[in-house]
Parts: sequence; C-alpha cells; structure tokens
Amino acid sequence: MKFKFTIFPNSKSASVFLAHKIADLVKAQPQLNLGLATGSTPLETYQALIDLSHDLDYSAVNTFNLDEYVGLEYANKQSYHYYMLHNLFLHLKTFKLANSHFPTLDHDYDQLIKSHGGIDLQILGIGTNGHIGFNEPGSSADSLTRKVQLTATTIADNARFFADQSLVPTHAVSMGLHSIMQAQKIYLVAFGKSKAPIIKELLAQQQFDLNLPASILLEHADVEILLDEAAASEL
Ligand code: PGA
Repeated sequence: MKFKFTIFPNSKSASVFLAHKIADLVKAQPQLNLGLATGSTPLETYQALIDLSHDLDYSAVNTFNLDEYVGLEYANKQSYHYYMLHNLFLHLKTFKLANSHFPTLDHDYDQLIKSHGGIDLQILGIGTNGHIGFNEPGSSADSLTRKVQLTATTIADNARFFADQSLVPTHAVSMGLHSIMQAQKIYLVAFGKSKAPIIKELLAQQQFDLNLPASILLEHADVEILLDEAAASEL
C-alpha cells in the first residue's frame, strides 16, 4: 500500500483546492457529514470555504469535530468550540450551529456519528509526532472516541496558542483511530517545514506502526495527502 499525495506550491493553493472539493460535495449532497479538524493547518481552508459559501446551502450539513480539550470552557478562546465558531461556523450564513458536534466525556460520539450515517469527508492535520486527532503514539488501531492524555511533544507544540505552556490542558477527548477510519473519504493536510520530517517518515511506512498513528491511514481505501512545498521538502 502506498499513499496518494500532491505537493502544492504553497498552503494557500492546497487549501483552495480542498475548499473546492468540500464545496462541490455540499452542492452535490446537501446532507453532507463533514469531519473537521482544528489547529493552524485548516485555517486557510476554512477561509476559502467561507469565500465560496455565498450561494451554498449549509442548512442540512452536519459537522463532527475530531477533538476537544478537557477542562476548558467552551467560551475559552483556546477551546476548539471557540475556534470553530469564529473561524468557520459564524461565517457560514446558512449553517445551523445545532448541527455542529464535538466529542465530550458524557456521550457516545461514535454512536452519534453512526446515527447520522457516518462521516462523508474527514479533514485531518498531523502532529509533529504523527498524531491524528489527539491519537498520540501508542494509540491502538481499534481505538474509539475517548479521553486521552496529551504527550509532552503535543503540549509543547500547542503552547504557542496559550499565554504559558502550563495553561495547555493535559487531556482531551478525541475520536479514535478506528472512529476516523470509518470516514468515506479522508484528506490529510500538512504545511510547513516543521512537518517535513514526519511526512517523510509517514510516506516511507509500509504498514500501520503504533508509533506513528497516521500510518493507520494506509489501511483506508480513499485517503489523499495534501502538502505544501515546505512539508514536502524532505521527500
Ligand atoms: P497544526 O496541528 O495544524 O496546528 O499544525 C496539527 C495537529 O496537531 O494535528
């Protein structure tokens, strides 16, 4: 098995490409179930989606986010609820906030996704340690949505969003690797030089390696990896 990947000149062109794919699907399939990611990587995709949204009807679209920190109020600017509201949801005129979903500790998220018919298109970033969602190295292939402990690498990577590293939550609720693998179609996106080493490692994998959670995607039938030149600079 090998990954299908495309190298774009920059993050903007990759993001516009992805936004067009999503917008086309919303047009073709108004009841689309979209799996969404947070972090720096999807920001330009969300902006491009907003730019493309004027004549699109999002009223029947449901969104399912990959993860959320444990212990942050939703109003906290670093929560993923806040991120999604301000970077996407509030800018899509026809989108219904009631159709946005996040994993929590007190409901069965995998069952909720299933009851909506499953995720049609899932967007993923990748951590410098190979995580997808907050499935840190060691996460098992059959993991479902659950509470996870963040590794020191992830806490250090995400400290840039917080005033102080000690404020980064130590735990999150994350869709599991098995949960993610249920999506019909997956786009994994990586931008910037800091992602070049893990992208090199990922593309060299032949099979799932517990130490590189994203390598589970080798077992998925429809995954595309979108890179900018910097993330592809070690290939
Ligand atoms: P980033 O995070 O988009 O902020 O680089 C990606 C991830 O940790 O999955």
